Order: sequence, then structure tokens, then C-alpha cells
Amino acid sequence: MTTRLTINGQRRAVEADADTPLLWVLRDELGLTGTKFGCGAGLCGACTVHLNGQATRSCLVPIGSLEGAQVHTIEGLSKDRSHPVQKAWIAEQVPQCGYCQSGMIMASAALLRQVPQPTDAQIEEAITNLCRCGTYQRVKRAIHRAAKT
Ligand code: FES
Ligand code: FES
Repeated sequence: MTTRLTINGQRRAVEADADTPLLWVLRDELGLTGTKFGCGAGLCGACTVHLNGQATRSCLVPIGSLEGAQVHTIEGLSKDRSHPVQKAWIAEQVPQCGYCQSGMIMASAALLRQVPQPTDAQIEEAITNLCRCGTYQRVKRAIHRAAKT
């Protein structure tokens, strides 16, 4: 079936079975490989994108449910790494292996849009993404840094 939606500001018509996860479409059909596959079960957050402005785990969302939707991936956050969250990530040297980080960044950008000055407790509640490298403290510092800019 064909699903028409907007991805990173561009209108797209995607040919895929209705139950194909958005994550598969992004990576395999559209080549947007910044969004990562971790667990495929909604647990790790590596696949986080913005769906109609909300942080969403794309491995759980069937493409057939997205007619007319607005999706933003890490590739669409900024053209030149100038988003405040990206700048803060670089300043705080957050990533280690990096695998979880696009999901962390997308979840953090969505949080800051809703809560511009989050407390530590609000960050811990909102950012439930997993990081095997243990960057959680640096993620928190970077969110606070981004909140100041
Ligand atoms: S790959 Fe989607 S939550 Fe882990
Ligand atoms: S930076 Fe390696 S898994 Fe998070």
C-alpha cells in the first residue's frame, strides 16, 4: 500500500505493507540510517524520532498508521549540527560508541520543546533511553546546557 507522509519537511509516498515498522522504512527504504535499530521492541529508544512533535519509538509504529503524519529524524534536526541539543552534545562530549545517541538527542530535543528548563527528576522521567556505555550523567549535563541556550 502507499502511505503519504512528511519526513524532515519533504513529502514522501512510501510503498510498503501497512504493518511495516516506520524504523524499517526510514532505514531500508529511505536511507535515513541515523535512526538506529536496538531492540525492535520499544525498550531501548535507539529508534526514537519525532512523530507529530512527540518523541516516538519508530520500531513500534506501523507505516500504515502514518497517513498525513509529520516525522522528523536526526537528519532533520538541523542542517549543520546547529540545534542547541547538538551543540550541547558536542560541548559536553556526550557520546562514547555513539550507537544510542541519535535516539538520546531526539528524545532530549522533544523534552526541551515541552519543558524548556527541566529538572533532573524530569529528565530522568522523560529520557528512558538505554545506553550501554553509561553516558547518562553527560546526557543530563548536556540537556541542562541546551536549556540555557
Ligand atoms: S529499537 Fe525501538 S525501542 Fe529499541
Ligand atoms: S554511547 Fe554507546 S550505547 Fe550509548
